[in-house]
Amino acid sequence: MEFTMDQYRESADFLRAQLKGFTPKIAMVLGSGLGGLGDEVEHPIFADYKDIPHFKASTAPGHKGRLVFGTLEGQNVAVMQGRMHHYEGYSYEEVTYAVRVLRLLGCEILIVTNAAGCVNTDWNAGDLMLITDQIKMFSESPLRGENLPEFGVRFPDASHLYTPRFQQLARETAAERSIPLREGVYFYCYGPQYETPAEIRAARILGGDAVGMSTAPEVIAAGHCGMEVLGITLLSNMAAGILDQPLSEQEVLDAAEAAREKFTGLIRACLRKM
Ligand code: HPA
Repeated sequence: MEFTMDQYRESADFLRAQLKGFTPKIAMVLGSGLGGLGDEVEHPIFADYKDIPHFKASTAPGHKGRLVFGTLEGQNVAVMQGRMHHYEGYSYEEVTYAVRVLRLLGCEILIVTNAAGCVNTDWNAGDLMLITDQIKMFSESPLRGENLPEFGVRFPDASHLYTPRFQQLARETAAERSIPLREGVYFYCYGPQYETPAEIRAARILGGDAVGMSTAPEVIAAGHCGMEVLGITLLSNMAAGILDQPLSEQEVLDAAEAAREKFTGLIRACLRKM
């Protein structure tokens, strides 16, 4: 389904009425098992997705399904605790709907986090990866359909979807905190089945370092409407076929829990400097 400008505005107006003059600057999407940072927002104002006009509920495990507005590290943030995925049955327009609404509310920056499979065999499960670029060429775009010029142009440039100055900021921040930070390309696969070993070999040949089922659609929509983006991935497991063991959701959630402090510490430290 495609949305009209009126629908985006209606959602934004609904939220604005609850924000009482508060303007979020940084939107954050927290991935599987990483939503805890949303509970640390100060002076929080909550909005459940199910109450917001035209929003969809997220059904994935470890996703709470609400927006949290408030401050974190002195920044005005809008945290999405839980995101929508294409594999849940949502169109890419639905998956990216919230990003556009947050843009209308004033957000200029998007921080995306996720858990993903590690495709790069030089790295290990548990590592963090700065996303430098993405590959999402085997599925349709969230920008498909009538262009809404209020958000951006018909054929947006995608040379720097992940903002170079934020990449540098994350590199420096990780180094200061002695947090090892890999850098690489996020390869989007829409799931929900984990990839086959052959798909992972293909992803590697095509230049992917991490493979996951989220993030890329939201980042395309954010780039279209002029938002700057920082993306950090938790490599929660070695991707299919690398180790001789089946992949499981539990492994992903356990890895997210194990990396929670390192991950949230890095995000908080980056936030402080934005
Ligand atoms: N593949 C796709 N998505 C994922 C994975 C994976 O191996 N791990 C966590 N999310």
